[in-house]
Amino acid sequence: MTPRSRPWCRAAGRPTHQRTIDIRDEIEIISHSDLVEELFAPYRQTIGPDFPAYRGHVYRTITFAMHFLDGAEVHRKMVETAFVYHDIGLWTDHDLAYLEPSETLALKDNAEKGFGLDPETLRAAIHWHHKVTPYRGPQADVINAVRKGDWVDASQGKVRHGLSKIQVKAVQDAIDDHGFPNVLQRLAKDLGGSALRGNLRVLTRVFKL
Ligand SMILES: [Fe+2]
Repeated sequence: MTPRSRPWCRAAGRPTHQRTIDIRDEIEIISHSDLVEELFAPYRQTIGPDFPAYRGHVYRTITFAMHFLDGAEVHRKMVETAFVYHDIGLWTDHDLAYLEPSETLALKDNAEKGFGLDPETLRAAIHWHHKVTPYRGPQADVINAVRKGDWVDASQGKVRHGLSKIQVKAVQDAIDDHGFPNVLQRLAKDLGGSALRGNLRVLTRVFKL
């Protein structure tokens, strides 16, 4: 099935047969990918009870990022792979400074399992995903789509990067969060010693200007 042949999620609360749908509120929901499921398989047990929450976050961020890329298939494998690994160090390395462990694991699997992705783009997509300001450099289109996609979902739509509230809500409604915001808060507390110290460690080690 081509991505464009999947059903398009239209404005919340409007029947799909209605003709007055605003095209600006359309967004293609990506809630399943064979590649994502395959990449996750070796790590499901390690992620443990947090898996449904992280998996939902990954699909919502993929949805937002692919929308920012106008659905460009050429970027899909990079976007899906980067998002599977982007926060994975929280569980594999139990460290709130998780960007580097996540990058390392992604690059190791890319090399050993033959994903065939450009390692520098994969590394940069993960490394800069919390960057506040736009990334400038090679492959900026895909790296910024990943960065913006994560911001929209991690902020629960407080940051929208040009998406409408209707689009964000459509994605949130379609892909359950399984308490993902609470998972992040719990990890900040558990891995940082306290919620405050954990959040400070995230702020100083994970966010980049
Ligand atoms: Fe994330």
